[in-house]
Amino acid sequence: MEDLLIANLKQRVFIKNLIIPNTNLINESKLLSTLKSISLTNPYYVKQFLEILFQNYNNSELNLQDEFYEFFIKILNSKPIDSNKLDLITYSITQDISIDLNETPRIISGQGTTGLRTWEASFYLCEYLYNRYNNSQIDNKLRYGLELGAGTGLVSIFLWKLLQNDKSFDKKLYITDGDSNLLENLSQNLKLNNISIENEQIKLQRLWWGIDEIPTSDGNKADNIELIYAADVTYDISVIPDLIKCIIQALKLEIPEILIAATIRNEQTINFFENCLIEQQINWSIVSERKQGTKSYSTIWYSPETPDIRVYRIVKY
Ligand SMILES: C[S@@+](CC[C@H](N)C(=O)[O-])C[C@H]1O[C@@H](n2cnc3c(N)ncnc32)[C@H](O)[C@@H]1O
Repeated sequence: MEDLLIANLKQRVFIKNLIIPNTNLINESKLLSTLKSISLTNPYYVKQFLEILFQNYNNSELNLQDEFYEFFIKILNSKPIDSNKLDLITYSITQDISIDLNETPRIISGQGTTGLRTWEASFYLCEYLYNRYNNSQIDNKLRYGLELGAGTGLVSIFLWKLLQNDKSFDKKLYITDGDSNLLENLSQNLKLNNISIENEQIKLQRLWWGIDEIPTSDGNKADNIELIYAADVTYDISVIPDLIKCIIQALKLEIPEILIAATIRNEQTINFFENCLIEQQINWSIVSERKQGTKSYSTIWYSPETPDIRVYRIVKY
């Protein structure tokens, strides 16, 4: 329970949605050090949380360490961070794998892109990949992947960390987005997670669907790519035709599998995506689905308002 609170704070779960354990169950030192580290990028969030914590303690028989009050005074005048300013968010996808990302979590679309924050479909795609990895560690496809529309890079960074478990296997990931401005932030996010971009096995590049080519070895075959994956790239009807072009290109290059995690915000948009696949005679199925409001088994937090999320699997035959 307490670890969940720490994970939720690091993910900047809305204060109203935090579940604060009974005061006697809180490890105060651990909590204080977490709050101090969060306050480096977002003191206002910490201030709001402390106000609630103080109320909880006031209603209990226990006393909170004085350090909390001393610390509170230091951040008392903090103001909400400018929504364009980067915050450092940590996503705990599993007990062992957490990912730090620089992002602007309150911005839906800014500077002409939706890729400056991390979207829930990418949490679910991480969970799907994790289950798949655990069910079959010899699933080679996961080791040769290309992400489309990576945004802040959560899925690829997660997959890379997951694959670190078996260092003996070769692997290569292409992390791509159509917006070259996002690549600088993506590169920072890789560094934050101690992933070197000098590494031959990681390639960061611009790939605008239908315009930029999927990397090939000889023009006819994809360069060591066994899987294409993407999260929340079907968010608007206007982006789908280019995405379909890219999928067709991938299938021509004999990439055996494509996974698209889609948040079902609007039936019309998802129906448009499915109809485009049908028109192009593309072989697809839904391999996993999270219903709105389902309790997460991991420590990652989904807002109760998060709509259903589906994972579409596309294969050549
Ligand atoms: C809603 S965001 C999802 C980001 C990330 N996958 C996630 O789930 O957090 C959509 C991403 O797709 C990228 N994108 C949109 N249209 C694109 C296109 N035509 N070609 C390549 N990338 C595109 C955007 O730059 C953005 O990063």
